[in-house]
Amino acid sequence: MFEPSESQRLIRETARNYAQGSLTRIASELDREARFPAAQLGELAELGLMGINVPEAYGGAAAGAVAHALAMKEIAQGCASTAVTMGVNNMVAETICRFGTDAQKKRYVPEITSGRFVAASFALSEAQSGSDAGALRTTARRDGSGFVLNGSKQWITSGDRAGVLIVWARTEQSAAKPAKGISAFLVEGGAKGLHAGRHEDKMGLRASSTVPLTLEDVRVPATALLGNVGDGFRIALSALDGGRIGIASQAIGIASAALEESLQYAKDRRTFGQPIANHQAIRFMLADVATELEAARLLVLRAAAFKEAERPFTREASMAKVFATEKANHACDVAVQIHGGYGYVSEFAAERHYRDVRVTTIYEGTSEVQRFVIAREALK
Ligand code: CAA
Repeated sequence: MFEPSESQRLIRETARNYAQGSLTRIASELDREARFPAAQLGELAELGLMGINVPEAYGGAAAGAVAHALAMKEIAQGCASTAVTMGVNNMVAETICRFGTDAQKKRYVPEITSGRFVAASFALSEAQSGSDAGALRTTARRDGSGFVLNGSKQWITSGDRAGVLIVWARTEQSAAKPAKGISAFLVEGGAKGLHAGRHEDKMGLRASSTVPLTLEDVRVPATALLGNVGDGFRIALSALDGGRIGIASQAIGIASAALEESLQYAKDRRTFGQPIANHQAIRFMLADVATELEAARLLVLRAAAFKEAERPFTREASMAKVFATEKANHACDVAVQIHGGYGYVSEFAAERHYRDVRVTTIYEGTSEVQRFVIAREALK
């Protein structure tokens, strides 16, 4: 059985109180208006949720990966759009802490954890390289002691809101393996030559910002390099291992909201002279979803515990992500089914959960990529 420690419990309760108080009430309005949750993100920063697994020296809570997973689930249960923005902020802050120089950490991480930067971005994907991330084409050419970046990025969460973006670019065209020639750079929001395009008109997570970016001769100093030249792909994949635990938690949060609403609706709605909760067809659906979410939660906690113990957790993170996100999609599908006609209209939250959860098997590595990673680890 999993018993949270005192600090894990505190983070979870803080996130739960905030989510069930203000977030749940405003989630449907944020979705309908596709309004970026800037005020909510500021409040989350005040609550210490923007650097949950970041050292206190940089304004973080230093509460670990398990606490981060617990908080992500709670916030996503309130508002999935707010949760993904918070998740990416945490991932960027952690990645800078892990791979950055002291100066980089001091310059950027407290800005994220304090909320002075409302968001931070992870700019890896490009129009022709999502799953095959190593095929990216953005270039970083040496220019004196610094670099000049050119190219474009696609589907960048908070790309137009970020105070700092980790941008991956090719520093070497002729590397033996394409992934070897990639480096990571810290680019500041508002940098000359960095332009955000039109917001994507998304199916779900409509309150989060997703934009394409173009980089036209964006000049950065040598001090903007994160890690060493050529280390970029390894940095990206290792950050994604952690990010995948966050997205698995987000999916469980969305699905938990869907399950709670399904349970309530099943008790309230009557057909054939009794609440539909009395019908075996509905009970079996509820039982399957409850069981699947419990199993998903354990896989997520296991992956987070491995990460926290500094054990290899690539396989565990991919298992948690593929299982949790697919089961969460099932849970939200079932919620719509149980709500019947009401599940198909925006008056009930089941409709929003169904749209919000869909992307969780796509971003932060598709289900297909997770299975590729799991099989490769198994075959080693
Ligand atoms: N951690 C650290 N290093 C790793 C690693 C890991 N988990 N996995 C692989 N590496 C290293 C390898 O050891 C290798 O280095 P060497 O050559 O020195 O041995 C190097 O990285 C390249 O690895 P691969 O040969 O495995 O690379 P690949 O080209 O076969 O790709 C892949 C593997 C798993 C498919 C990878 O491309 C991948 O994960 N793709 C999905 C990308 C993704 O998740 N994108 C999400 C975008 S961000 C997002 O969605 C955020 C958001 O908005 C919410």
